[in-house]
Amino acid sequence: MAFTVERNPNPATAERRAEILQAPGFGRFFTDHMVRIDYRDGAWGDGAVVPYGPLQLDPATMALHYGQEIFEGLKAYRQPDGSVATFRPDANARRFVRSARRLGMAELPEELFVQSLRELVAVDSEWVPTNLADSLYFRPFMIATEIGLGVKPASSYAYLLIASPAGSYFAGGVQPVSVWPSTEYTSAAAGGTGEAKCAGNYAASLVAQAQAAAKGCDQVVWLDAGERRWVEEMGGMNLYFVYGSGPGARIVTPSLTGTLLPGITRDSLLTLAGDLGYTAEEGKISTDEWREGNESGAITEVFACGTAAVITPIGSVKSATGEWTVGDGRPGPISMQLREQLTGIQTGKLDDKHGWMHPL
Ligand code: COI
Repeated sequence: MAFTVERNPNPATAERRAEILQAPGFGRFFTDHMVRIDYRDGAWGDGAVVPYGPLQLDPATMALHYGQEIFEGLKAYRQPDGSVATFRPDANARRFVRSARRLGMAELPEELFVQSLRELVAVDSEWVPTNLADSLYFRPFMIATEIGLGVKPASSYAYLLIASPAGSYFAGGVQPVSVWPSTEYTSAAAGGTGEAKCAGNYAASLVAQAQAAAKGCDQVVWLDAGERRWVEEMGGMNLYFVYGSGPGARIVTPSLTGTLLPGITRDSLLTLAGDLGYTAEEGKISTDEWREGNESGAITEVFACGTAAVITPIGSVKSATGEWTVGDGRPGPISMQLREQLTGIQTGKLDDKHGWMHPL
């Protein structure tokens, strides 16, 4: 599809951009342009790169009332030769389609999703940080734009893509976090929207996150809705448990039961762990097994993973029934090795033998 380009008449100055790229933080600054593609009468219209700016929405726009909103997150990385590449965009495109289906929304063709990334980087490439630890975070999203208060799938949608230079997701950098497994709130039940990346899931998580903070923890850990026993996710990130150490180590992540987000970092780590000679599996871990495993030393490391923060070690757990430390409370060697392997591939320092990198 041919995209039209309307240049921003007031882009950030080179000085301002340099200042932002010096310490971008996460999700605080946005590039000069965005992509918009509208869906109506059963078809997607033309793609457009337009100046970044406010959306004008009728107050009765359906997305504002019934929550038909889905989104994605992926990053562009500066490569050693100065070019720009992204990581497994096809996987995000596929998940975006699955999320749309679950929310009864229009499905954006996967090629159009990937093309939109290319079109935005073509005009905003100077926003891709050159600092190795930083990246340009893409936030593709879709909202229902039909106007009306009837509860039904909308007939019109807007797909938008914005981009934000990104440093470390957590203000402390790669520091172990403390977690609160919630037995009061749950994030998803069988048949719900847990495996879709939709705004409502994140809205529903905020009170539990606030409760975790009130208990003195950094993040909430979600347990299954049925028994409140099986570990599922940490906030918006997937989890991994490391059993043992050295070459015989085994890493286990909760199985995708339909109530967890099928993370692309999670999926990539199953492969990378195998490349490094570890056993990597999907399985079921209860809070009791987590605690006993840490107490006996069988579980040596636990970490969360996602696009935004990559790998975040978990240092301690506090629950209604007790507190314990994970390993020695510091980032574990396997967690950090996997982090380096993954970011090494993304930044072009290590061989991309799985063909995950996609030039933009
Ligand atoms: C992740 O990348 O881990 C996320 O879930 C993104 C978050 C900012 C919503």
